[in-house]
Amino acid sequence: MCGIVGYIGKRDVAPLLLEGLQRLEYRGYDSAGIALHAGGKAGGLKTAKAKGRVRELEARLPKRFAGTTGIAHTRWATHGAPNDVNAHPHMDNDEKVAVVHNGIIDNASELRARLTAEGVTFLSDTDTEVLAHLVGRSQAETLEEKVREAVRHIEGTYGIAVLHADFPDRIVVARNGSPVVLGIGEKEMFVSSDVAALVSHTRQVVTLDDGEMATLKADDYRTYTTEGSRTSAQPTTVEWEAESYDMGGHDTYMHKEIYEQADAVDRALRGRIDDRFSTVHLGGLNLDARDARAVRRVKILGCGTSYHAGQIGAQMIEELARIPADAEPASEFRYRNPVVDPDTLYIAVSQSGETYDVLAAVQELKRKGARVLGLVNVVGSAIARETDGGIYVHAGPEVCVVSTKCFTNMVVSFGLLALHLGRTRDLSVADGKRIIEGLRKLPAQISEILANEGEIEKLAAEYADAKSMLFIGRVRGYPVAREASLKLKEVSYIHAEAYPASELKHGPLALIEPAMPTVAIVPDDELLEKNRAALEEIKARSGRILAVAHQVQEKADHTIVVPKNEHELDAILMGIPLQLFAYHTAKAMGRDIDKPRNLAKSVTVE
Ligand code: M6R
Repeated sequence: MCGIVGYIGKRDVAPLLLEGLQRLEYRGYDSAGIALHAGGKAGGLKTAKAKGRVRELEARLPKRFAGTTGIAHTRWATHGAPNDVNAHPHMDNDEKVAVVHNGIIDNASELRARLTAEGVTFLSDTDTEVLAHLVGRSQAETLEEKVREAVRHIEGTYGIAVLHADFPDRIVVARNGSPVVLGIGEKEMFVSSDVAALVSHTRQVVTLDDGEMATLKADDYRTYTTEGSRTSAQPTTVEWEAESYDMGGHDTYMHKEIYEQADAVDRALRGRIDDRFSTVHLGGLNLDARDARAVRRVKILGCGTSYHAGQIGAQMIEELARIPADAEPASEFRYRNPVVDPDTLYIAVSQSGETYDVLAAVQELKRKGARVLGLVNVVGSAIARETDGGIYVHAGPEVCVVSTKCFTNMVVSFGLLALHLGRTRDLSVADGKRIIEGLRKLPAQISEILANEGEIEKLAAEYADAKSMLFIGRVRGYPVAREASLKLKEVSYIHAEAYPASELKHGPLALIEPAMPTVAIVPDDELLEKNRAALEEIKARSGRILAVAHQVQEKADHTIVVPKNEHELDAILMGIPLQLFAYHTAKAMGRDIDKPRNLAKSVTVE
């Protein structure tokens, strides 16, 4: 989705902004642009914009395009087609104001009609352009006051950065529902919607709250509310290093991130296991033993992969803590006027911590007085800040649009939570110990699975001719099947559908024929024989079967054997070979693996 970068200091701004935009490419975008101060009041503003990739923008920069203050943007079209004109920055009619904007202005058509009636000429189809005109037409004396006046007219969400030709010594930024992070340097300041664009320059950042604005000057920044009162946002240090965003010798971020999983899981466990009481410490949970015992139900909310992680999490919580638990897509939950129960613990799960549907669900829950925890990867993100406490999953930055290591770390974090809740209830010391041992085995078992990449690559080549694939699993295996099916379709564009194996007879069996392969999740658990019966049913109809199992499955054409853990934790491992399967299928098909078509890393709009 859209990305913002800005810089004010002494350095040549265009290359810095281009580098920042490149760091944001992973989020997905369709066009890009830059505006800069060409030098003092007399110089005015210059812009360059291009549909397509940042390198196309770079190729199109005019020869004389220099300055030391500027803003830039990658756009994901919402209002108006992806083209040069609709790319940001947008300017007012006098070309004194340049604005970049993330988010959606809900009352843009109304404002556009009003401004048009007042004589403003619109050049683009975007909602953002109204902001440029509102700032440009403000009679206020300072840029801060002009921006404040403009945002008062806006209904909707925004993260914005504004340049004004008459105020060459500053950038003014504002946030409402869309992230804005300031990067504090030595006699230079940065701004971005994502720390990924900042960490190669500074790790000292200030994250604005909703309703907050900031003025950036080369040697200073100040923050205040949209009402004008000063705020005292203090810098914090970002843990993620610039190198975490490099490809590190892999051909794609997806491949790199799949390989980071053993370390990532190790990080998620580090410092949290309490052997003395066979439980875990989750510092940020803000839930004491009494609160934990009072929980009567758990409801997990997330989207896409995070929702699937939540489904596995719900099962772990039911199994280990015997608390009724379920997961639901946050995007559905928020629209069905949910009954909010005071004895239910709500958990919002999100890699980015920015997904709008999840954030809106959290806000609705909070409004109704619910207790909401976050299970989030990005520290300080909107969802992490809005929730009453939670667990950071510590997967490190995930750049590929397709989530892999975050999924695994989310599921591991749910395992920790389930163990914690279980040990405040009836889970025995012996079972607590057993689960801890299982958790500790995970990093080595992940490495064992990844060592099998060659074989998985061959299998991917074998199945890459399929037009469609069915993924099946039962109980613990079903969310694994759902996630594996999502991985394959996202990255290879092969149609894939997931079903509970128990439902085969109720419809999907009609699809089975040699051209429709089935991927079956077959753990060695109490349902093994039932799963084998499903394989028989498929084989009897000449279906091809690829099984992911703890032992070779006779009825399957191929089996990927994965190491066995405790049955409550098996789901963590069984999806990992299928991440590699999706990756190699997409690679064999020549897909743009890190940036699948039509998708964005963080879905910050509805
Ligand atoms: O950042 P989030 O975890 O909230 O994102 C939720 C989904 O948009 C995300 O998991 C999506 O399904 C990914 N493309 C999955 O690979």
